[in-house]
Amino acid sequence: MLAIDASKVVKTYGEGEAATHVLKEVDFKVKQGEFVFLEGPSGSGKTTLLSIMGCVLAATSGEVSLFGKRISGRKQSELPSLRVSYLGFIFQGHNLIASLTAAQNIALQLELRGYSSRAAMKEAEALLDRVGMGDRSHHKPGELSGGQRQRVSVARALAGGPPIILADEPTASLDAQAGLLVTEMLRSLAKERGHSVVVVTHDNRIFHLADRLVHIEDGRITGESA
Ligand SMILES: Nc1ncnc2c1ncn2[C@@H]1O[C@H](COP(=O)(O)OP(=O)(O)O)[C@@H](O)[C@H]1O
Ligand SMILES: [Mg+2]
Repeated sequence: MLAIDASKVVKTYGEGEAATHVLKEVDFKVKQGEFVFLEGPSGSGKTTLLSIMGCVLAATSGEVSLFGKRISGRKQSELPSLRVSYLGFIFQGHNLIASLTAAQNIALQLELRGYSSRAAMKEAEALLDRVGMGDRSHHKPGELSGGQRQRVSVARALAGGPPIILADEPTASLDAQAGLLVTEMLRSLAKERGHSVVVVTHDNRIFHLADRLVHIEDGRITGESA
C-alpha cells in the first residue's frame, strides 16, 4: 500500500479571471518507508502540495489518500485528528514553543498522542538522545543554535511514531554542515523506524540523501530522478 497517493490534485485560488492555478493535476505517490525530496523554484507549489498531503489545506479537486484512507473531500473538522494519526511536521522556522524546553516541546506532541505526562517526558528524553541533544533537553529554543533547534524539530516530528513525516525546507536557514547533519539524522531515524518522508527543498547540498527526487515547476510535476 502507498503511504501517500495523490491523484490529479488541483488547487486554485480565486475565481474567473482572478483565479490563480497553483497545482495543475498533480500526481504524487510515496511508497512506505521511502525518503522523497520535492524540489522546484520558489512559487512552484511545493508548500501547497505539502499542505494538502498534510491535511492542512483542502484541494480544489483530485484525490489524496494516506495509507489507503481517503483524506480529500473531508470536513475541515475531521482534519486535526487525521493529522495526529498520520503526520509529523518539520518547518523551515523550527516552530518550537519558546517558553518550553526542548524536552517539553516533544512531550507536548506525545501527550496529544495519548501518552501520560510521565511517559511523554521519558520518551522525549530518549528521542533527544537519538538526535544528539540529550545534554540539551532542558534548554529552551532561544538557548540553542539553528542546527540544534532543527534536531529538536526532527525529534518532535518522530514523536509518537506518525507513519508519515513532512518537512518544508528544513535546512533553509542552516549552514551546509548543520543542514547535512540534520537531514542525515532524519533519514537514518526514518529508515530505522519505517517512517515515509517527503522533504521539500531547494538545497542541492542534500539531494544525494534522497531515494527519489521529484521536480515540480509551475504547479506540475516535470520529472524525477532516483
Ligand atoms: N492563499 C493564497 N492565495 C492566493 N495565492 C496563493 C495563496 N497561497 C499561495 N499562493 C500562490 O501559490 C503559488 C505557490 O505557492 P507555494 O505553494 O507557497 O510555492 P513554493 O512553496 O513552491 O514556493 C504562489 O504563486 C503563491 O503566490
Ligand atoms: Mg514553500
